[in-house]
Amino acid sequence: SRKSRGRLMDIHREATAFFHELLMKNAAAGHARDYLKSRGFGREMADRWALGWMPDNPRMFLDWARARKFSGRELVDSGIVKLKEDNNPKSGLFVRFQDRLMFPIRNEIGDVIAFTARQLRENKNSGKYINSPETAIYKKSRVFFALDRAKKSILNEKAALLCEGQLDAICCHESGITQAIATSGTACTADHARILKRYTSNVLLCFDADRAGLEAVEKAYRQLAPEGLGVRVVEMPAGDDPDSYLKSQGADAFRQLLANAKEFFDFKLERGKATGRFDSAAERAVALGECVEMLALMSDFAARENQINIVATHLQTSSVVLRDEIAKAKANPK
Ligand code: CTP
Ligand code: MN
Ligand code: MN
Ligand code: MN
Ligand code: MN
Repeated sequence: SRKSRGRLMDIHREATAFFHELLMKNAAAGHARDYLKSRGFGREMADRWALGWMPDNPRMFLDWARARKFSGRELVDSGIVKLKEDNNPKSGLFVRFQDRLMFPIRNEIGDVIAFTARQLRENKNSGKYINSPETAIYKKSRVFFALDRAKKSILNEKAALLCEGQLDAICCHESGITQAIATSGTACTADHARILKRYTSNVLLCFDADRAGLEAVEKAYRQLAPEGLGVRVVEMPAGDDPDSYLKSQGADAFRQLLANAKEFFDFKLERGKATGRFDSAAERAVALGECVEMLALMSDFAARENQINIVATHLQTSSVVLRDEIAKAKANPK
């Protein structure tokens, strides 16, 4: 209901302030402040993003919540707390995050609706990041981290910069690259694509330069192209992500990478060539089949014509052949 949604928003807003206060001032949060510093955050930066600390002692949060008159039910509905046994309200409350750096996730108008929480000390028994579960106010497939702050720049720059991690988006903003947003480690969905389309027709993908990031590029293309979004790819040295690159190379170098972003098919086919995947005619035929299927996903006719020419050049075929194959693929979708 509207009232219970309002309560969930209240919990998130008030908890954000509580966690932030703890991070900045609590005597037990010294290691969290050290960690912040190690990631390049000064006090103002932590303020700007309302970063917080969830204590290791769950009582601190539960006592605070009780004093604020949030019920156990409301805490569970918020996702910050879960029942020790599913569906057993008598089983006791378990705070989902412990001794973590809390990053508020906001909706498009800037209300906190969820958290993502990073480990402060390496602990293999638990994930490096833990995110809020889906709740009445948080649908992962429809939320971009930092979109509330990026939307104006996305309109002005006529492009969105989509990163993999929240810290990547934050570092971009702090370096003046304010069209940056991030999915929360989850894949880009068709809903994400429809939301972006309201702001722009161009997406620059800046995923981590590792295997997972490369795979995510192809997956994101498959969601974005059908919405008529043009996809370009920012290339970083192997092993980097925007956060690490900005820290080691600086904002000017990063802006240069953005300026050099490649059209999706240039990116895909240059990589294929560099890794020796088109050496034989048989290999080129496989690549052609894949490109045809992916070109057929594009809903923007003029944009597809451009991409057809790129693919034809790389795979030594003609655009006439490609158009023909695309028509067949569209008549017979996989
Ligand atoms: N992520 C997650 N759960 C994990 C690991 C990652 O939800 N166990 C999400 C987080 O949103 C994270 C993003 O995926 O920001 C990117 O993951 P990764 O590249 O592995 O994060 P790192 O860059 O290694 O994180 P950090 O820089 O904080 O070490
Ligand atoms: Mn990693
Ligand atoms: Mn990664
Ligand atoms: Mn990363
Ligand atoms: Mn990183």
